[in-house]
Amino acid sequence: MSGKARENFGSRFTVVMALAGSAIGLGNIWRFPYMVGEHGGAAFIIVYVLCSLFIALPIFFSESILGKSTGKDTFGAIESVTPGTKWKNEGYIALLGSFIIVSYYSVVGGWSVDFLVRSLTTGFAGESLEEASGIFTSMTSSVWEPLVTLTVFLGITAYIVGRGIEKGIGLFTKVMMPLLFLMIVVIVIRSCTLPGAGKGIEYLLKPDFSKIDGPAIAAALGQGFFSLSLGVGCVLTYSSYMRKEENVVDTGVWTAVFDTFFAIMASFAIMPAVFAAGLEPSAGPSLVYETLPVIFSKMGRVVPIIFFLSILIAAITSSISMMEVQAAYLVDQKGMSRKKATTLLFCASWIVGALCAVSTRIFSFCDFISSNVFMMIGAFVVAIVVGWKMKKSVVRNEFTNNGTGKGAGAVFPVVWFLVRWVAPIGIVIIAITNLL
Ligand code: PHE
Repeated sequence: MSGKARENFGSRFTVVMALAGSAIGLGNIWRFPYMVGEHGGAAFIIVYVLCSLFIALPIFFSESILGKSTGKDTFGAIESVTPGTKWKNEGYIALLGSFIIVSYYSVVGGWSVDFLVRSLTTGFAGESLEEASGIFTSMTSSVWEPLVTLTVFLGITAYIVGRGIEKGIGLFTKVMMPLLFLMIVVIVIRSCTLPGAGKGIEYLLKPDFSKIDGPAIAAALGQGFFSLSLGVGCVLTYSSYMRKEENVVDTGVWTAVFDTFFAIMASFAIMPAVFAAGLEPSAGPSLVYETLPVIFSKMGRVVPIIFFLSILIAAITSSISMMEVQAAYLVDQKGMSRKKATTLLFCASWIVGALCAVSTRIFSFCDFISSNVFMMIGAFVVAIVVGWKMKKSVVRNEFTNNGTGKGAGAVFPVVWFLVRWVAPIGIVIIAITNLL
């Protein structure tokens, strides 16, 4: 460890914006809206909120407590609370998981750079429907285009992380997140007022409880984990830069509220427009990069610009949190300078990202293994370390800011039970369901 004082986020607003920035990302925009429609509309939203409340949020608190109480990176934090044991190897899971995610995520982030440039230059308006739907295929089948945009996206990510916590990540997220909320509101209004939008609103809201089965619950929980950036050290690392007077409950609850609110807003930004255009909703890349350009081709110049700029901002505020997990390790554990660490990480992620950009199989493998294996193992270990290895009094003090937190003291026994029992058992069941 270097002798220099560790940086911090400065204000509570910045911490919440940074954490919300990590949470709000592609998961909210291209997975959540589709999942809601597929799995029973409002019924799924209720299940999602319950899963987040009872399993994802306790894990979020646990990661936050580990980071804030120790003020260290993933390895350092776990080593501090379980000295001399093997638990700190969770650090490798976090490093590898966040590394794989940032690599393939940057490929998709690169696509949004590409689409933003297109909407700024040629625009989608005026393209014929066939042309608009063919853009994505021709972009991804080009060899150099995805590599150029990957380089741009990763370059921005590494630059922000390289500037540090306050002047880099903190500054970027506290300016960009409010802007992002504003932009999504504009798109929601535009989308919901289109003729024929009603069918999309119905698709999202009509509750169908018969669709809530085992796989739907597993999907809700998996999405909750991915959306709150759990299990790969992001929440832990960001929380290690919180000032002592902040509280993990406040920041965690606000992050989850913003994240869920944004996911619902994104659904209302996208689905009504899809139905108004008489198209079928789909999931993943094809929803955002194939279906939407077709719709935009009829909507004028401004909406696509705002939309792809929103995706780009949402993706960058997430990718910086993944790279920071690895940067914190290299700086804290290996004594590297931040600049050198981010340059190295840029190069390493670029290589894996490039492989994902040219091969759909590698891309899907990275997506699958990170959310179904790394995030699950990581979250499980965090629950065990905090629930079974840390002293209850230490966890309680951190949770309640030494007994001063008003409501926190009252809910602590419930959260303690959730962390020790419900979350680990839930994770194992879900992981097995998803892998089968
Ligand atoms: N939460 C981000 C999203 O919803 C993805 C993410 C996963 C970010 C893991 C950091 C760590 O897109």
